[in-house]
Amino acid sequence: MFENYPKWREIVRLKAIEMFRKYSLPSWIVSGLDNTAVFLTFLFAYALRYNFELEKFDPILVVNHAFIALAIYAIFGLIFRSYSGLIRHTTIIDIFNVFIATSTAFISLIGITLLNRRIRGNEILNIPISITIIHYVTITLLLFFVRIMIKIGFQLISTSGSKKNVLIFGAGDMGVIVKRLINSDIQSNYQISGFLDYQKKLQGKKLNGIYVYNPDILNSAFIHKHKIVTLILATENISSNKKSEIIQTAMNLGVEILETPAVDKWLNGQLKMAQIQKVKIKDLLGRDSIKLDMELIGKGLNKKIVLVTGAAGSIGSEIVRQLARFDVKKTILVDQAETPMFHLQNELNETMSHSKFKLILADVTNYEKMDFIFQEFHPDIVFHAAAYKHVPLMEENPHEAFRVNIGGTKIITELSCKYNIKKFVMISTDKSVKPTSVMGASKRICEMIVQWRSQQEGIKTQFVITRFGNVLGSNGSVIPLFSKQIEDGGPITVTHHEMTRYFMTIPEACELVLEAGFMGKGGEIFIFDMGKPVKIIDLANQMIQLSGLVPEKDIKIVYTGLRPGEKLNEELLSDNENTLPTYHPKIKIAKIEKVDNTGILIKIDDLLKKLYGMSKEQVVEEFSEMVSEYKSSNGKYNEKLVKKEPA
Ligand SMILES: NC(=O)c1ccc[n+]([C@@H]2O[C@H](COP(=O)([O-])OP(=O)(O)OC[C@H]3O[C@@H](n4cnc5c(N)ncnc54)[C@H](O)[C@@H]3O)[C@@H](O)[C@H]2O)c1
Repeated sequence: MFENYPKWREIVRLKAIEMFRKYSLPSWIVSGLDNTAVFLTFLFAYALRYNFELEKFDPILVVNHAFIALAIYAIFGLIFRSYSGLIRHTTIIDIFNVFIATSTAFISLIGITLLNRRIRGNEILNIPISITIIHYVTITLLLFFVRIMIKIGFQLISTSGSKKNVLIFGAGDMGVIVKRLINSDIQSNYQISGFLDYQKKLQGKKLNGIYVYNPDILNSAFIHKHKIVTLILATENISSNKKSEIIQTAMNLGVEILETPAVDKWLNGQLKMAQIQKVKIKDLLGRDSIKLDMELIGKGLNKKIVLVTGAAGSIGSEIVRQLARFDVKKTILVDQAETPMFHLQNELNETMSHSKFKLILADVTNYEKMDFIFQEFHPDIVFHAAAYKHVPLMEENPHEAFRVNIGGTKIITELSCKYNIKKFVMISTDKSVKPTSVMGASKRICEMIVQWRSQQEGIKTQFVITRFGNVLGSNGSVIPLFSKQIEDGGPITVTHHEMTRYFMTIPEACELVLEAGFMGKGGEIFIFDMGKPVKIIDLANQMIQLSGLVPEKDIKIVYTGLRPGEKLNEELLSDNENTLPTYHPKIKIAKIEKVDNTGILIKIDDLLKKLYGMSKEQVVEEFSEMVSEYKSSNGKYNEKLVKKEPA
């Protein structure tokens, strides 16, 4: 029974908090209680003044005086709203309101008495000054006392539960704000054990009563000694690499890691406890934010009409969000997926002016519809992100990869030339480099179409290709998949122990798309610096740890084997491509040998006409014909593919 005592105490405490929260007194009851107190303390003041010798005063007169005092105090209580705040959250302002209300009532009572004495008025209005003073002091102190005791009682109940020891990383302004927030938020379950900060001048000192440690102290002995459960990252002045290092260290020590959002994400300029949330896996990848040439992009987009295909997808929708930062005349959003378009519309309705965007449900492979859109809106710039991108699905559906990716790109590039669009930017993928999948090969053919168009004489459109690896958290990508698997209690499925992928965040990739789009003069393939490739198994382990769980113990990892078309490691350049630097450190130009793609469009047209009369193998064979470096890793296809030897 005694073992259960703390548990019972906790239950009672939580019940009490719940009661406090649920049942706050309405202000009319607070006002009623205050007024009753005014009346009773007035009687008390009389009794005190006459040493409780009740026979010395006329009870009828006393009660009349008490009612007059009550009326005056009630009027000033109403005027200064001394009863309107939630008692358990009494602030200094509420106390001040009480003080002003009682003081003005007191002065008024004195004034009435003095005036009455001067005009020799009615005895009822002649309230003894000494009693008025005793009453004023008693009621003011009583009202203060009750309010403060309720507040303290509530705080004691709320904070007496078990606390988690927390370290705040960053002893700057942000760190101090987090400390104040934790201390003032009665619901917060944290107790601050110290700050961590790299600034030598702060280390070893106390900040607002809290010790500042050197972050190098973060080791197992320290964590155990101080029983640290949580680390809150509360600094913006830290490089992504350093941040990732700290997260990694804390994670290995089994410490929960939270972080504050960027200042511009605070609600109405104020940080709320609920906004301090678990760090995201992207923070572990140590990617520095991109510096954009805002002037160049701003000039390129100024008052332009921009068409984005695949606008409801991960990349397309982020391009649309990025465009909202510039003075674009109108953004035309094209996608065939109705529900994602509906969600995007809801989002944009809240963030953009209605006149600035237009959503159109359309299929990029429908020439007539797309021609109508180009004719109607006359876009200046096109970002082409509509595509089918899932490798295993495209292995099973090569016809669709051909029709949507290749057919769609052919149509959009053709219309861009027809309507003299100024700039066309295609979103490509690292999977198009030495492709081993239908999806990769189809995107390589898209690149070839765009390259061919850019080489045409008299073409006014600048055709630019941007090529990059996986983006974090995009539709159907590994991160949402792992999150779901962790949520479901596992297991996490990893294709291969040695599998690696390049990763960047969606905003990062789309910012680079804009930058590259406007640095390009036409004909270039821009590739982005993706940093170091990440082992998928490491990513899985880190995601499990970030969720506060232990890999293999809480969540199992199972290997499923490479799927058809998948590569172990992606590359950003093919063997016959080198890179040239640009002024932007994260963007390089692939130096490509000029390839003669003449006839490619005729061939595509021809294949599109007879596409659905062909078998999957025949379609894949055609991919192989068009992309000499395509080597299917799908057993089903590569047995049948007879590669043509060069003559
Ligand atoms: N997601 C990544 O990690 C990543 C990385 C590098 C490159 N890319 C490339 O970016 C492009 C877009 O990828 P995503 O991640 O945004 O994919 P996504 O599936 O999220 O978005 C693609 C969008 O295109 C639309 N679409 C497909 N066919 C269409 C058609 N016929 N007409 C109109 N709309 C159509 C889809 O409805 C979808 O909204 C792909 O070519 C992909 O290879 C993606």
